[in-house]
Amino acid sequence: MTAGTARREDQFPVGAALRLSELERFDNAQLLRRLRESEPVSWFAEQGVWLVTAKPLIDEVQNDSRNYIVDTEQNPNGAVLGRMMLAVDGAEHSRQRAPFAAPFKRGAVHARLSSVVEAQIERLLAHIESSGEAELAMAFANPFAVSIASDVLGLELASFDEVHAIYTEFANGVVNYRDPNARKATIRAREQLTGLVMPIIEQRRCHPDDSLLSSVLRSEHLLSTDEELLANLRVILFGAIETVESMILNTAWALLHHREQLMAALADASLWPAVVQEGLRWIPPVGYSDRWTTQTVQLGGVTIPSGEYVVPVFAAANRDPGTFPDPDRFDISRGDDRRNLSFGKGIHMCLGVNLARLQGSLALKSLFERLPNLELNPERPSEPVGFNFRRPPHLYVRWRHL
Ligand code: HEM
Repeated sequence: MTAGTARREDQFPVGAALRLSELERFDNAQLLRRLRESEPVSWFAEQGVWLVTAKPLIDEVQNDSRNYIVDTEQNPNGAVLGRMMLAVDGAEHSRQRAPFAAPFKRGAVHARLSSVVEAQIERLLAHIESSGEAELAMAFANPFAVSIASDVLGLELASFDEVHAIYTEFANGVVNYRDPNARKATIRAREQLTGLVMPIIEQRRCHPDDSLLSSVLRSEHLLSTDEELLANLRVILFGAIETVESMILNTAWALLHHREQLMAALADASLWPAVVQEGLRWIPPVGYSDRWTTQTVQLGGVTIPSGEYVVPVFAAANRDPGTFPDPDRFDISRGDDRRNLSFGKGIHMCLGVNLARLQGSLALKSLFERLPNLELNPERPSEPVGFNFRRPPHLYVRWRHL
């Protein structure tokens, strides 16, 4: 420990005592509240990062893309996926995101993808319906997320196993990005994805169709090289699987623990968007973002030197009572309140937000309508865990077998 970090530990005793294993636990809300109330900007000594846990300060970081950036070699996303929109800032970010803006708008997503999303839900639920029980992650949420991500990239369902394996290597690479073996595996996964996607890109260039990929390729804001295009397709694949899977599992878990609210949604289908919003607020699949300071900054009265790792904690912002009264209560009557930070905020706010909301509403509605009296299997309980990514590791359920 250097004299500088020792001083930080004296200044931030709550952060000094904190352990990642505690933040990963299901019941981390009290800990996040303690941080927010006593050290809203805190030095998390064990991990060597600055944690930000009050919503106004998190908004400040997310909205300031000059002082808090992502383009640094310390960023694991860039190291694993390459130079793509989530690893660059400023004008370069605008240029890289531009071709994807129109096809990911709400109207375009609904027109192009609603029937694909519905068809995949139908296929998966029809497959398990007669069994009366299932593990929802592997039987439904994961294959659903993989199949829609594949479709967005223009890939056929036949590539499902490959896409799943490629995603797994990317996710493993981001978590273990300093491990040379994990790095090698991500390079192989990149090559594999290029092998799958490049022929489709070439085909769509010659024969445009009404797919999302064709729309990107037809954009007036063309990317400079195929590598830029591929890197952005990699981050789309990376962003679209575990997040969507977790949204479905977390919200299903929440509803199964609040049956009266489940009954309200089943009685009034217009409530599903609010259910999805509240599920995302209460248990965000992505707990935080990563930013690095470009110069010495003042945040909430704390001086953070240049080049330091700052972590705005969305999971804490979503429970900030200044924005969400009685924040620890799961309550779908908050309505379709979009102030939660589960999709981030600022220039890097989730590109796939409209698709994700559509997927969440349709998947949860169909799941509970189609499988009558769905309930948790009490013999195999589980609960959402994790700090960076949060979800129940498995979700065993059963229903009335007609
Ligand atoms: C419930 C599901 C989802 C959640 C919770 C989620 C969450 C997020 C968050 C928090 C960020 C911001 C990260 C940051 O500021 O550092 C983000 C960015 C991003 N997401 Fe999502 N996401 C979801 C679904 C999707 C889907 C379905 C796609 C694509 C089809 C997608 C693609 C992306 C991309 C490309 C970015 C980077 C945007 C940029 O840097 O400009 N996400 N997502």
